[in-house]
Amino acid sequence: MELTAPEILGFPDQSPTIKTLDLLHTLSGESCPIHYHVLSNKQHLSKTLSGQNFESDLVPGVYEGGLKLWECSIDLARYIVNNREAFIGKRVLELGCGQGIPGIATLKYGQAAQVVFQDYNDEVVENATKRAVQTNTGEELMGRCLFISGSWESIAAQPVAEEMKFEFILMSETLYNTSYYDSLVSVIDRTLKFDGQVIIGTKTFYFGLGGGHFEFQRFLSQKKQSGQFHLSVIEKLNDLKSIERMVLLMRRGEAPQEEKQAEQMEDEGAGEEGFQLSF
Ligand SMILES: C[S@@+](CC[C@H](N)C(=O)[O-])C[C@H]1O[C@@H](n2cnc3c(N)ncnc32)[C@H](O)[C@@H]1O
Repeated sequence: MELTAPEILGFPDQSPTIKTLDLLHTLSGESCPIHYHVLSNKQHLSKTLSGQNFESDLVPGVYEGGLKLWECSIDLARYIVNNREAFIGKRVLELGCGQGIPGIATLKYGQAAQVVFQDYNDEVVENATKRAVQTNTGEELMGRCLFISGSWESIAAQPVAEEMKFEFILMSETLYNTSYYDSLVSVIDRTLKFDGQVIIGTKTFYFGLGGGHFEFQRFLSQKKQSGQFHLSVIEKLNDLKSIERMVLLMRRGEAPQEEKQAEQMEDEGAGEEGFQLSF
């Protein structure tokens, strides 16, 4: 289904195409529509790319892919709709938000108190994130949002007061580049409440880039000496058309014993499966 952008948006460029997905609440069957925009690199990233490859989905260190909607953000938004009670009255941060569909789901269907949207590029925040939030929630809920742009390195360097920390951090398709893990985990460590939860939509593995669930798991295990975070798989999505996708939960502290055992059993089995998947 395609809609026309409402007049109230007031963005200077021509209104882009809006598409609508139904996140559908699994138990009740209730319809939960969410809108996203089809944006063009040439029109909406002209300052960021300034003549560089306009066709590319990602130019590392310059443009990190936020204009486009990536599939794991839909998985994550569906998970949020199905667990919407958890977000009522909570403060939420979406890291690497792009169009911010998961954060929007916590506002629109989860009644979050405040959502802070972060993306690497200010052009993405201006053209993609703000536009998607307005189209989905209107002016009233827009007042509960804050928008920030910049690298995780720069955000991790800033102090955060305890009362400004978040109960939930969301992120989708942010685990593709292992060289960002250090700064990503530093931002999370700085901004997450002590008992807060990070919910992640990701692919198991990103071909050609090297990151993904396994690498992030390995990274966190190596950091364990400092007693930081553990990761659990809460949903696996495999449509057999593309690489397996997952929703992950990341929390502070050691994994419970039964989770460790399940993980170990899975690792032993995953060797063969991973082999089949990759080659
Ligand atoms: C592949 S896009 C995913 C966008 C969106 N979450 C989605 O799933 O549709 C990766 C996102 O990660 C963010 N990102 C990647 N590396 C980053 C870094 N070093 N600092 C800040 N943000 C970064 C970018 O903001 C970008 O929007």
